Amino acid sequence: MSMKMGAVALCFCLLAAAVWLGLSMTTSESLEVFYPEVGNISCKIVPQCNEYRQKIQMWSEPIVKFPEALDDTQYLLVMVDPDAPSRHDNRAKYWRHWVVSNIKGSDIKAGNIRGNVITDYQPPSPPPTTGLHRYQFFVYLQGDRDISIPTKENRNRASWKLEKFLQDHKLQSHESSTQYMTEHDDTVLQYYKMNEAKGKSSET
Ligand SMILES: *[C@@H]1O[C@H](CO)[C@@H](O)[C@H](O)[C@H]1NC(C)=O
Repeated sequence: MSMKMGAVALCFCLLAAAVWLGLSMTTSESLEVFYPEVGNISCKIVPQCNEYRQKIQMWSEPIVKFPEALDDTQYLLVMVDPDAPSRHDNRAKYWRHWVVSNIKGSDIKAGNIRGNVITDYQPPSPPPTTGLHRYQFFVYLQGDRDISIPTKENRNRASWKLEKFLQDHKLQSHESSTQYMTEHDDTVLQYYKMNEAKGKSSET
């Protein structure tokens, strides 16, 4: 009986160690996302001050940096919203915001997302009354795989089957990931109009 309990305790310890190692390994490989003015937005909620919520909807793509990238290989970057149309009713999961393949390790290490743009960047635009949305970034080791999304599927951003896409390309687990959160702001439309009136383009 006591030996059995000893074995159980040992198993538990090993499990705890494995979980701890797993966690520490994930956190050491950090992915960083930067927008103008707000800076590093990884693991944060877009602040309400300085019209950041409105601005994030107008800014073009952020700088995404993977400091641990290996120089002599290629990476794939994916940005999705799993909370479409909302976190409680995510029937349009995943909303595909941005997909870039063939990014050189040396580029993503420095935050230069250059490569083959499969899906153009679309800024977050969470609908009214749908609460906070998570905007998730994943980086995969692409190597010399050919990555593509069928044209028909690429026309629609909603309900993207990310898991199937990964399976089809034999990309099961990401090298690194991060997310930020933001929600709709009622003044976004006014903000757009104001900026259009000023002659600034609201195209993103
Ligand atoms: C950005 O923020 C993430 C999450 O808080 C952190 O792990 C990372 O070190 C930060 N990077 C920089 C350059 O500040």
